[in-house]
Amino acid sequence: PPATPQYRPAYHFTPAAHWMNDPNGMVYYQGTYHLFFQYFPGGMTWGPMHWGHATTTDLVSWQEQPIALYSDSLGYIFSGSAVIDAHNTAGFGPNAMVAIFTHHNPKAEKAGLTTFENQSLAYSLDAGKTWTKYAGNPVLKNSGIKDFRDPKVSWNAAAKKWVMTLATLDHITFYSSPNLKDWTKESEFGQKLGAHGGVWECPDLFPLMLGGQTYYVLIVNVNPGGPNGGSATQYFVGNFDGHAFTPLNEQTKWADFGPDEYAGVTWDNTSTRRLFLGWMSNWEYANQAPTSPWRSATTVPRELALQRIGAEIYLASQPAKEVSKLFPKPTTLGAFNVGNTYDLSAKLKNTGDKYELKLTTRQLASFSLVVSNSKGEELMIGYDKAANNYFIDRRKAGLTNFSPMFAGRHTAPRLATVPAADMRLLFDATSVEVFADHGLTVMTELFFPTAPLTKLTLKATDGLTLQELTYSKVTVATK
Ligand code: FRU
Repeated sequence: PPATPQYRPAYHFTPAAHWMNDPNGMVYYQGTYHLFFQYFPGGMTWGPMHWGHATTTDLVSWQEQPIALYSDSLGYIFSGSAVIDAHNTAGFGPNAMVAIFTHHNPKAEKAGLTTFENQSLAYSLDAGKTWTKYAGNPVLKNSGIKDFRDPKVSWNAAAKKWVMTLATLDHITFYSSPNLKDWTKESEFGQKLGAHGGVWECPDLFPLMLGGQTYYVLIVNVNPGGPNGGSATQYFVGNFDGHAFTPLNEQTKWADFGPDEYAGVTWDNTSTRRLFLGWMSNWEYANQAPTSPWRSATTVPRELALQRIGAEIYLASQPAKEVSKLFPKPTTLGAFNVGNTYDLSAKLKNTGDKYELKLTTRQLASFSLVVSNSKGEELMIGYDKAANNYFIDRRKAGLTNFSPMFAGRHTAPRLATVPAADMRLLFDATSVEVFADHGLTVMTELFFPTAPLTKLTLKATDGLTLQELTYSKVTVATK
């Protein structure tokens, strides 16, 4: 297919060429954030998996690095995590960067075995540049669960051991280890809890503080079965005692309601910060997305926090504060009435297709932001007061017929209870990430216009006063 440089984002990571899916092995070490990712260097659709590698020191400009892990005789290199083994528990060397990943054996799968996914190790003694697979792989063998993958390992300071959170078909299994090599099963979670429209994949477990108290968040990606179809990231808030996870209640919660955030997990070794990043696509149509010569981008890094709304505790996600450096010169419009329609483009000069827009309303009323071009293509993003939900409608936003699953109007419940809305929108050529109510409701959505959507119009049929609106074009590019 012809190259689509117009669809290349400026501040989201994309591989220069070929297929990418899940983020893997996210770990911070000596000033650098590492991002490994599911990568097929042989084509633009999913294939035998490798771990690609990219690094950033500022969370917005990315450098793609040589491939870190290649498929081998034990199989493809599926998703997993990485840690810094500061106390050399595994004996690979002080401060070894250790990757814990799934070996997926396609031959065993074809032969009809159920044990084709096993957990293995690789280590790097030069900060992620070169890697050695552990000779004793696999370190955690499958006892007959077909879907047995995506280990997320972290050091549990209270229990003084490594804890592995593993996706095992329709539940999570926790394991522990003193040395990353010998694993003991601790407990299972979730067979009867949460969303089960599809298989559980790519989990994560981490502590977050709220009101002086520590809670644990368990992230469980699920495919399909997301709130707007296909793949999505659900989470549970609860406690973890080093053995088992106990949720506070049975409510299913979503870290991102949009169709295009999946396999999101967090960076290890970032001290008290909790930074999350996802794959910006959906298995329903990822292999058909009309970009070339690469397929897929990641989301922006997001900082996670807990927030209490009534009796519930939710995750709130905001773009990591480093993202604001991309938008240093905002144009701010003071309070104004939107009326039936308000032509924002007339007020904002040089609008492109890579920018940040923030708005705060004075009251709760239905509104939509229409982002369009002269070809009649438009993306609509807004709030529907009667339904009390946020929505993104991409049915008329350009190319949709590459997959029957792509076109649609997607919604997300408003969780905030304050009588005014705020929205922060990050646009980057073919994506928008909407952080509503300071990140309580998040939606990530792709769109593929045939000409940039540079015209901005606000609509509010019942009237609306905006307290403030801020626009800023992106100032730095990754490539
Ligand atoms: C999630 C996933 C993982 C698996 C990987 C394979 O998107 O299916 O469960 O490890 O992708 O590429």
